[in-house]
Amino acid sequence: MDVIVAGDRAELDVARTELGVGRLALVPTMGALHEGHRSLIRLAGEHADQVAVSIFVNPLQFAPNEDFSRYPRTFMDDLEVCQEEGVRLVFAPSADYMYRPDRQVSVSAGEMGAIVEGAFRPGHFDGVLTVVLKLFNLVRPDVAVFGRKDAQQLALIRRMAADLDLPVEILGAPTVREPDGLALSSRNRYLSAADRATALSLSTALNEGSSRATPPEVRQAAREVLDAAAHADPPLLLDYLALVEPATFTEIPDGHVGDAVLAVAARVGTTRLIDNVVVTFG
Ligand code: PAF
Repeated sequence: MDVIVAGDRAELDVARTELGVGRLALVPTMGALHEGHRSLIRLAGEHADQVAVSIFVNPLQFAPNEDFSRYPRTFMDDLEVCQEEGVRLVFAPSADYMYRPDRQVSVSAGEMGAIVEGAFRPGHFDGVLTVVLKLFNLVRPDVAVFGRKDAQQLALIRRMAADLDLPVEILGAPTVREPDGLALSSRNRYLSAADRATALSLSTALNEGSSRATPPEVRQAAREVLDAAAHADPPLLLDYLALVEPATFTEIPDGHVGDAVLAVAARVGTTRLIDNVVVTFG
């Protein structure tokens, strides 16, 4: 069956009627779909009768110095991926439709949006939560699927759903990796061969860290890999390495028992990459 493409609320309403009743899953994306997105779509399909994908490069979540204008836009290829994966509805609004010039109200990610990743990208999570809430209101899914690679984003979306009583179930999907460990990302296409070799130290650091038994050992093992990569060519420029509580993203104490997220963000050449892994203590 062909994918229905909708660009506004009226077209979405027609599409919803065409799809009929049943549980609808939404996979929000910024396009440039890769194997990781395919895995989100497949997970969505296991939890709903129909899957919708939104494709929207959200200007609100990019700071002026970030890569909004060069973010890959591959709409026709994305449609093909959706078709292959059995997606029934693609919502691809314009920026003008999503953000009226006179708009006033937006979502605040609160203190949790200003730590770890948020400390390096002020306002980023406000922009993410605002667009995700708008997508939920427009598409009205029963369930929505997000990647665990963006672990703080996922935690904040869960938090928004709980704090604002949103009638949508939030699911996290495992990170998909290249055979050598590099986490899939739409931004990987910016990496040269040399950048890519340096970028591998992110997943290596997470692997080294997560094989240790206590929080101080985890931090130290991961940091040693990242320190070595700082002398590579091109060098890895570390933004942060954090070992945090999964739901709040606050730093865990040394005696922590239970799950923690070991998260890293770094720049290689002109590309900024993030990755994380869950570590269980005790
Ligand atoms: O993870 C992403 O691709 C984006 O942050 C999202 C959730 C689609 C919001 O623009």
